[in-house]
Amino acid sequence: MRTQVGIVGAGPAGLFLAHLLARQGIEAVVLEARSRAYVEGRVRAGVLEAGTIDTLNNLGLGERMMREGLVDNGLDMRFKGRTIHLDLPGLTGRGVRIYGQQEVVKDLIAARLTAGSPLVFEAKVDRIEGLESGRPRVHYTHDGIEKVLDCDLVAGCDGFHGVSRGAVPDGVIETYTRSYDFAWLGVLAKAAPIADMTYSNHDRGFALCSRRSMSISRLYLQVPASDAPENWSDARFWDELHMRMFDEGRSEIREGEIFQRDVAQLRSYIAHPMQYGNLFLAGDAVHIVPPAGAKGLNMAVADVRVLARAMVGYFATGARAGLDRYSADCIDRVWKTIRFSVSLTDLLHKFDHYSPFQRGMQMAELDHIAGSEAARKVIAEQYVNLSNVAD
Ligand code: APR
Ligand code: PHB
Repeated sequence: MRTQVGIVGAGPAGLFLAHLLARQGIEAVVLEARSRAYVEGRVRAGVLEAGTIDTLNNLGLGERMMREGLVDNGLDMRFKGRTIHLDLPGLTGRGVRIYGQQEVVKDLIAARLTAGSPLVFEAKVDRIEGLESGRPRVHYTHDGIEKVLDCDLVAGCDGFHGVSRGAVPDGVIETYTRSYDFAWLGVLAKAAPIADMTYSNHDRGFALCSRRSMSISRLYLQVPASDAPENWSDARFWDELHMRMFDEGRSEIREGEIFQRDVAQLRSYIAHPMQYGNLFLAGDAVHIVPPAGAKGLNMAVADVRVLARAMVGYFATGARAGLDRYSADCIDRVWKTIRFSVSLTDLLHKFDHYSPFQRGMQMAELDHIAGSEAARKVIAEQYVNLSNVAD
């Protein structure tokens, strides 16, 4: 096969990029290792910033998101039995929208297939060659047959565990990372959600109450990194959630059948530069944020909005200027988004190695936020809009 842009991975980064390029008449082939069902079944976060919402709508793909997505104007943080309420529109003039990432992916895949545009599932990319040449070659296996995709440019949108980043010669990419000794246990439950997105820093650990609809709750507990979903019965989960949300009377949090469980590891990770020759890396392939800021999807979309603009310019004029500065155009935003996500993680989680003094500093910072509109505004403005990029 031959195309203008070979895209490795059909997650949000790869799918948004494919649609952004198609809108400008640029051909791309998306190669996805997993099946459609697997990709559409992956439960991830669900907070869409304005830039992501606008991009979906500008692509003409936002109808279901606008109909089914939930506008979220409040962000609460609990500590020592107290609740800090952040009025997002009051503090920033805008809110966010809750719409599961898997729903976004379903909409993007359906539109791509309806348009008859190339999207190949169960096509695992094995290696990428010729990155320094003008004719990169993507080798992949589909139906047990080794195949080749020749292209002008390659977009590595294959996530943290993909192959694209590894196609860059040793010594080119620098990585910056921080690991955590805890993870997030996430569940989906047939239970009406509480009023607002609510994070809680409890002596027993972090908890978060989010939603997917007015009858489906998306709930999280901080657990040891070694923990597993099967260790958590419904009863054990609800007991722990009530306690960590300071709902000992069990009068606020509604329980229901838990029908999905997962444990997500936390890490902070940046790989820079985000490009090499004719390979351009985007999304989780080059950065991972701890989920406390709900930024992963929004960062991926921001990256490919910059990359699409650079690719469009290249194919229109042959000039590489936009391509050559892609990484430089992204990296400051990436660092700032990582910083926000790390700061929220540090603020809201229980760190076993913390001294009583450090734990006291955490509580004092939350107490300060509770008493300062300026401090709440700093958090709110980063929560609603860190990943917007000029079109
Ligand atoms: N060949 C083809 N596809 C691959 C390969 C490969 N060798 N390796 C990985 N993939 C696919 C994965 O199956 C996945 O569907 O690449 C896709 C990468 O998608 P994501 O991991 O979702 O990454 P990204 O598109 O950058 O989106 C980031 O997704 O995982 C969440 O929390 C993350 O919200 C963030 C968002
Ligand atoms: C979610 O709804 O899945 C969610 C919300 C907020 C976060 C992370 C995940 O910080």
